[in-house]
Amino acid sequence: MNTIIGTDIAYAASLLANDEVVAMPTETVYGLAGNGFSETAVRKIYAVKNRPLYNPLILHVPSTDSIPQLVKHIPETAHALLKKFAPGPLTFLLPKKEIVPDLITAGSHKVAIRIPQHPMALQLLENCSFPVAAPSANPFGYISPTKPEHVFNQLKNTIPYILDGGNCDAGVESTVVGFNENDIPVIYRLGVITQEQIKAEVEDCLMHESNADKHLQSPGMLKYHYSPKTKLIISNQLSADVLNYNADEIAVITFQNQLPQNQVKHQIQLSTNGSLTEAAHNLYAALHSADALNVKLIIAEEHPNTGIGKTINERLWKAAAK
Ligand code: TXA
Ligand code: MG
Repeated sequence: MNTIIGTDIAYAASLLANDEVVAMPTETVYGLAGNGFSETAVRKIYAVKNRPLYNPLILHVPSTDSIPQLVKHIPETAHALLKKFAPGPLTFLLPKKEIVPDLITAGSHKVAIRIPQHPMALQLLENCSFPVAAPSANPFGYISPTKPEHVFNQLKNTIPYILDGGNCDAGVESTVVGFNENDIPVIYRLGVITQEQIKAEVEDCLMHESNADKHLQSPGMLKYHYSPKTKLIISNQLSADVLNYNADEIAVITFQNQLPQNQVKHQIQLSTNGSLTEAAHNLYAALHSADALNVKLIIAEEHPNTGIGKTINERLWKAAAK
């Protein structure tokens, strides 16, 4: 199959209506889109990604109005968060109605729903008469794509079309939030929207156990994810650590530091002015580029652990866990 990169939203919609899967731009990362109500399309998504069936998919819809047909109940706190963050990089875990296939939720009674903020994604979704299932458009376990070329390099000849919406704004995935029996938001996956931002809207916001900071002590215990093929380690004393290697056998990814050329030949600064938002925007592209250098080792600098810096560090630890 020949993979075409283009900007034809109507064509992408027609492919989706015919059970094909296409790459779709969003403000977070590129998604691998398919008709969420079609078993054929959803199975294709899992197959193209080589993703195990136990890992559920997010349904994407064009507006809050599309949510009630999919879920039994929307807590007040979810309403408040929808009002603030939809469209946007927040994914809502809500009790699913019968109409949502078990294949989407991997058997769970909760379904993940998101309204993306990218204008082309919204137009595409408006052109579809069904919710669009879309995991990140990378092979399972590998780095998520933030540019059409990332998708092309990873999935070429396995999908017919990549809808080109340019570089993704945010650069890391959405935050996944569920609600406990008291309707308090619980973060299942750290992402663009921070715990502090959610607290600012609805007072309280908890972290699901899987996000507890224990991974900072034992990254090896984690299942790897977001991983380059090249071995990656994390450093909080970069200037010292690089001295253990030859300048040309490593690639270094820093937050805003620059190391001397004679110590590292390949270095990527994620933000020149110390902005964590800019660092998140550049993170995956840096990992893709570093991985393409064929060096022995990638050393990534640990980021300040506040705001979206927590998300960056979490992604780095998972990338290092391979
Ligand atoms: O930013 C994003 O969320 C991107 C763009 C394309 O929208 N999508 C994305 O999808 O990151 P994916 O499949 O790579 O990650 C979805 C995450 C996974 O960690 C999955 O386990 C979780 O959401 N998830 C999805 N449905 C779930 C459910 N019903 N219950 C619990 N977790 C769920
Ligand atoms: Mg993913």
